[in-house]
Amino acid sequence: MSQKSYQLSTKLKKSIRNWTVKFPKGKLSSAVMMALRLVQNEHGHLEDAHVEAVADFLNMPLIQAQEVSRFYSMYRHAPGGQFQLKVCNSVSCYLRGSEQLLNHFADKLDIKVNEMTEDGVFSLQETECLGACCSAPCMLVGDDDYQMNMDLEKADQLICSLKQRVES
Ligand code: FES
Repeated sequence: MSQKSYQLSTKLKKSIRNWTVKFPKGKLSSAVMMALRLVQNEHGHLEDAHVEAVADFLNMPLIQAQEVSRFYSMYRHAPGGQFQLKVCNSVSCYLRGSEQLLNHFADKLDIKVNEMTEDGVFSLQETECLGACCSAPCMLVGDDDYQMNMDLEKADQLICSLKQRVES
């Protein structure tokens, strides 16, 4: 039997178990989304070995855990910046200028989508609907800082204020 390259910590196992008990017996795999989220929070992003460890722990086929981790844009598979800019590019936001917003961030930060600035401060990604279509175009900074009704001027102000946070 091959040696696993990564093992869930005791703390992670305990946190995941706290979720598995919320689901019916024999439905451990229902906790996969939260389990992946917890592992990502711990490591900053998900590597193949992390997903494999989650699948093992939840006793589910690896392919199913991989599908979940690749389908949802909230899972990262590469390290992100200190500030992860996630611009929604689904239909409502797209119709209200999200593509232009994405390009503007890319120009300002001198990176492409899915890249990180050299200093590691910013990364930029396109994401699916954030559930705030009535405030399109919108985006997230990190996992929970919603920025609504964005425009290019607000984008500049946002970069400026985040840079000030780094410097202070
Ligand atoms: Fe952007 Fe729904 S389409 S939040």
